[in-house]
Amino acid sequence: MNFREYKIGSRMFGVALGGSMCITLLLPSLDIASVEATNVSMDKQLTAGYETGWNVYDPLMLGHHKPIKVLLKTDPTSGKAMEPEYAYVYEKGTPFPGGVNHPNNLGGRAQRLSLSIGKIGEAHSGAGAVFLIKTDDQKRAYIEDATITMGWNPDAVLKAAGDENVSHAGAGKTLFVREGCWWCHTLLPEQTQDWQVFGAPPMLGDFNGESPTAFGSDRKAPDLLHVGSRNSSREWMMLHFYNPRLVQPHSIMPRFDYLWGEVDAEGKKIDYAKWDSEFNAYRAGKRDVPPDVPTYAANSEVRWLIDFVLNMK
Ligand code: HEC
Repeated sequence: MNFREYKIGSRMFGVALGGSMCITLLLPSLDIASVEATNVSMDKQLTAGYETGWNVYDPLMLGHHKPIKVLLKTDPTSGKAMEPEYAYVYEKGTPFPGGVNHPNNLGGRAQRLSLSIGKIGEAHSGAGAVFLIKTDDQKRAYIEDATITMGWNPDAVLKAAGDENVSHAGAGKTLFVREGCWWCHTLLPEQTQDWQVFGAPPMLGDFNGESPTAFGSDRKAPDLLHVGSRNSSREWMMLHFYNPRLVQPHSIMPRFDYLWGEVDAEGKKIDYAKWDSEFNAYRAGKRDVPPDVPTYAANSEVRWLIDFVLNMK
């Protein structure tokens, strides 16, 4: 007996496995490459950088190695006032997003414009880069590497912008994924009456180069795709993340107070136990007002998360 059946069987198994791997890995990229990336997808991927799920650059999902989105009001080279414009700053060593690493993800036209006028093929993550979203005279969007086209470097752009114009929305998206916000919240208003409440649904082309997308599959809480347009109050977000029951007495949303970290904005240690006992006293009617929520430190995780939430316009 020479095990003929086994040989045929194992080869067929190999072909089936290899074939399904090819379908899974290659066909979606063909599909994505045939759709033109919209401004929205360019903004999302430049804001979030390389992967906001698990990845080798940020294995513990701490929100590290992420780009910084800034609203630039002065020209970083001349120091003169300019028409405000968003710039996406990639400091030295920050890995680039899908669309810059693989421009074919942008779709044919945006790929051509981004490579020819935008010069994104010359960007090097080792040296750092500053990206912009531009439109040509026919209003077609593409990505531009301002490091090459205008000689802007990451440090100069951060300095010209100033901390008040800086958003860590990219790091915040990592936290959105890590903290499991998507168990309850979708980022996908469905094509129903949802539109009237949660705003316009996303369009084909809004997801090119984004990884992972955070549609969510099962909604237990409001859709957040446009939450920054209906509620832009940082103060409200702060109260709500510290303890949702401060603003919505019957909310089922968990507390995210631990994202404040050890210390507050003044460097004072946060006493969580004291806060809890004061809040319990308030709930029991023994106090008239709830305790104050500590102001978060500028480099705390909750700041990044709020930056991400408010960035969803
Ligand atoms: C257990 C489910 C659950 C989880 C997990 C959860 N939320 Fe919520 N969230 C809710 C519910 C319910 C509401 C509506 C009531 C309220 O405002 O608290 C809400 C409201 C919100 C709102 C206000 C929405 C609006 O329309 O104004 C924001 C912003 C928000 N959540 C962000 C987050 C973020 C960010 C995370 C992850 C860090 C998160 N949520 C995790 C259930 C959840």
